[in-house]
Amino acid sequence: MDVYEAIGRRRDVRAEFTGAPLDEEILHRVLSAAHAAPSVGMTQPWDFVLVRDPGTRAEFHRHVHTERARFAAGLSGERAATFDRIKIDGILESTLSVVVGYDPERGSPAVLGRHAIADAGLYSVCLAIQNLWLAATAEGLGVGWVSFYREDFLRDLLGMPAHVRPVAWLCLGPVAGLREVPDLERHGWRSRMPLAEVIHEEKYTPKD
Ligand SMILES: Cc1cc2nc3c(=O)[nH]c(=O)nc-3n(C[C@H](O)[C@H](O)[C@H](O)COP(=O)(O)O)c2cc1C
Repeated sequence: MDVYEAIGRRRDVRAEFTGAPLDEEILHRVLSAAHAAPSVGMTQPWDFVLVRDPGTRAEFHRHVHTERARFAAGLSGERAATFDRIKIDGILESTLSVVVGYDPERGSPAVLGRHAIADAGLYSVCLAIQNLWLAATAEGLGVGWVSFYREDFLRDLLGMPAHVRPVAWLCLGPVAGLREVPDLERHGWRSRMPLAEVIHEEKYTPKD
């Protein structure tokens, strides 16, 4: 699969996980792809916690559903009805989860390229996640990013040190298939915007 095909086929997966075993060699390839990401000052500020234990996942799942209810409570009318139909995670159904951490202390204090933009470290972690996501797609696997959680809760659950930020809970594993249309689009929550709407020539021009 070439890179454009992987980009086009990649989906955020919630409902299509089969829970089938995942070959350790394939998992290693996918994690190697994540670890090959660019990073500010070559800090490689990511950590990957592999969560296979059903008990840990069930505990996180309960927390996520409390947060889902909290978000839902702020919605009304059409938004509430639409959100009600949207599945937001595959924590219990996927083969395993990969929690991605950001360690801002790695390679510090003299981080080349981060002196003016502290978030550059966080950007690096997101690039590792995108590499993981595309590699998993090329392997025929699914990935689902779950962000309905409080960072303190997840940090405690996994014993992460206070300075490490849990950036993502990724559900990972074999899938029955990858949908062509993103779930949020299918359910009428939001659609992909035309590319032309986000391109600006020379200066930033507000679009209406
Ligand atoms: C930072 C981030 C957080 C996300 N959090 C969630 C989430 O908590 N639950 C969920 O179902 N999808 C989550 N998603 C997936 C998006 O909804 C999805 O990427 C978007 O709708 C586009 O669909 P696609 O990834 O299939 O192209 C997240 C994606 C990103 C990048």
